[in-house]
Amino acid sequence: NHLLSLGVIGATLVAGSANAEVRDIRIGVDVPYEPMEFRTPEGELTGFDIDLGNALCAEIGIQCEWVVQGWDGIIPGLQARKYDAIMSSMTINEQRREQVLFSDPYITPPSAWFAPSDVEIGTPSDETLEGLTLGVQRGTLQDNYVTDMYGDVADVNRYATADDMVLDMDSGRLDAAFLDFPIGKSTLLESGAGDYKVVGEKITEPKEYFGEGFGIAFRQRDKELAAAFNEALATLKSDGTYDEIHATYFGA
Ligand code: ARG
Repeated sequence: NHLLSLGVIGATLVAGSANAEVRDIRIGVDVPYEPMEFRTPEGELTGFDIDLGNALCAEIGIQCEWVVQGWDGIIPGLQARKYDAIMSSMTINEQRREQVLFSDPYITPPSAWFAPSDVEIGTPSDETLEGLTLGVQRGTLQDNYVTDMYGDVADVNRYATADDMVLDMDSGRLDAAFLDFPIGKSTLLESGAGDYKVVGEKITEPKEYFGEGFGIAFRQRDKELAAAFNEALATLKSDGTYDEIHATYFGA
């Protein structure tokens, strides 16, 4: 039966695992999104999501393989079974909950505006952003927010990857960029070619855009898989593993 066999591609039952129902899986991720998911100079995947994802799989007792996928197609890729989970700094929100099943949140960073140090913006608003060129990663909650809030008064440039946006920022084509805070901190404040600053307050509201933190996404029917990840996450939080990984990328 063709349909049945599709369901088990790449899946091996883990003998002797505590979760006999949970199989080896593939995890989709969009890179680079430093410090969450990026490549070492040698080309190896690394970052908070990668380390935490690998630790979760080890705790569950399964093998996980990472599959790199552009952000634009990351939910369709899950539905098409290119992989079985998404761990890619994906914010849990109501709109996505209609398409995927989320794990519990594993980290809850705010969003923030970043601009070259010499650009005077003040508190972001219709007036202060009017006529400016603003950068976002296409298809992110930041894209939705900036497009809805400022799409009428500003030019919104949408980038396939966070790195493309940083390149345009570095070459002076953007007045400001709106990003998950840790990514702007790492790629602009710490390693951008230019001098950058955070503009205004970090943003976490309204929840319909900014959601409830980053979660691992699964297909709706994979409830046991999600439960296994939630259980493993709770274990890694209580045994210190989570804190260790957090300290590696965010300091103690
Ligand atoms: N947290 C934002 C969202 O969920 C952006 C995530 C982008 N992730 C990535 N790996 N490029 O919309």
